[in-house]
Amino acid sequence: MRYFIDTYGCQMNEYDSGLIASMMEENGCLPTEDPAEADFFFFNTCSIREKAEETAIARISKMTYYKKKRDGIKFIVTGCMAKHLGARLVERVRAIDFVIGPDNYKKIPEVLFSHPVPVIKRTLSKRIITDFNEEENYLGETAKISTPISSYITIQRGCNKHCSYCIVPYVRGPEKYRNPSDVIREVTLAAEKGVSEITLLGQTVNAYKSSDMDFADLLLKVSEVKGIHRVRFMSPHPKHYTEKLIDILLSIPQICPHAHIPLQSGSDRILKKMHRQHTLDEFMCILEKFRGKDPFYGLTTDIITGFVGEEKEDFEATLQAVKDAQFDAAFMFSYSPREGTESAKETEVLSEEEKQARLETLVELQNNITLERNKLMIGRTEEVLVERPSTKNSSEWVGKTGNFKKIIFSSNSAKPGDYILCHIDSVRGWTLRGTPTIK
Ligand code: 5AD
Ligand code: SF4
Repeated sequence: MRYFIDTYGCQMNEYDSGLIASMMEENGCLPTEDPAEADFFFFNTCSIREKAEETAIARISKMTYYKKKRDGIKFIVTGCMAKHLGARLVERVRAIDFVIGPDNYKKIPEVLFSHPVPVIKRTLSKRIITDFNEEENYLGETAKISTPISSYITIQRGCNKHCSYCIVPYVRGPEKYRNPSDVIREVTLAAEKGVSEITLLGQTVNAYKSSDMDFADLLLKVSEVKGIHRVRFMSPHPKHYTEKLIDILLSIPQICPHAHIPLQSGSDRILKKMHRQHTLDEFMCILEKFRGKDPFYGLTTDIITGFVGEEKEDFEATLQAVKDAQFDAAFMFSYSPREGTESAKETEVLSEEEKQARLETLVELQNNITLERNKLMIGRTEEVLVERPSTKNSSEWVGKTGNFKKIIFSSNSAKPGDYILCHIDSVRGWTLRGTPTIK
């Protein structure tokens, strides 16, 4: 038996796909990347914007081609869209056999392997398993590692923030934290397999707490694990950048000089409407702490344009904030109303065209800033983690700097997982080009 997993959305889903893969393999199933030979098709989906859901549904529908060709194939939808749409998914795509929410993955083996009753005869309710489980932290589970170099490890699930635009609290439930010893166990196992870079994950990862540790303490513990050379994390909330955390981020050499800090909007009025719990000024003070210490500190962000009620002046405030912040990169999105959220109850005034035009203006501005920030790197020598050969030129390699910039360089001795020093020579497109100095 073989399984195939199609993963959408954020890194938390990538980690969860690793959990599902481990469970399938423990039950004797082998992975495949070729849908033509798969018996189980997993679609690990995202609900963050409507487009994410529509893309996944279109892909599932397309994949029914394989299901028609052979008997016994099962389609299983997991992730946020499973929780959000539940039975509605089966109504839309009849080929779906099971819909399993983010707190229910441990039931996958039982559902797939130990039911004597043919799927076709099961009631719909038995095929839709999406209840929240406040206890479920996947303790003791070890997600399959997708690369032997760098690994994601989820430490926190769910979200308590209830930003007015966001569906996550409705599809992932309230915050829950994995216990530190289980996190360290999984990090240690990954390190023993050769992983040297760990990215700790959570919807508001820096809100992490356990009975005796906060996020800063956990970061410290992870950075002390033998073999771990780089530690990163995604996605933090500005409110939880405490003095203690910032001190640790700036003082522990294993913690990469990069912070992803979602801004969402540069207008205080909109930040308030979004329930972001901070002002623009407070946000900028956090950035200043990093860049004040290290002007090359990597800073990235998320921004939404065209949020419901966003006036021209609010959008201009966002453009100004982006100019002031000088982010190295940004993920930028056009606002998408999500069912059940507070802001979806308000009628949108902006047309799709206007929302899109604002997004394009913002993207153009940020692209220029990204280019300028990358050009500032020319002449520096940076430590680079070698990730993979370049797809375009077999003598070239792709790697990452500590401050989260992609770099391409030529080498006939590099291999994935190496740390090399690279002199940065130029920027082509947006990408750094370098020359290895010493190994
Ligand atoms: N519409 C557009 N973007 C959204 N995000 C979250 N919810 C929405 C929405 N309804 C963005 C935010 C968040 C990122 C993961 O996705 O910027 O930080
Ligand atoms: Fe998408 Fe959020 Fe779910 Fe991740 S947690 S898959 S970003 S909706």
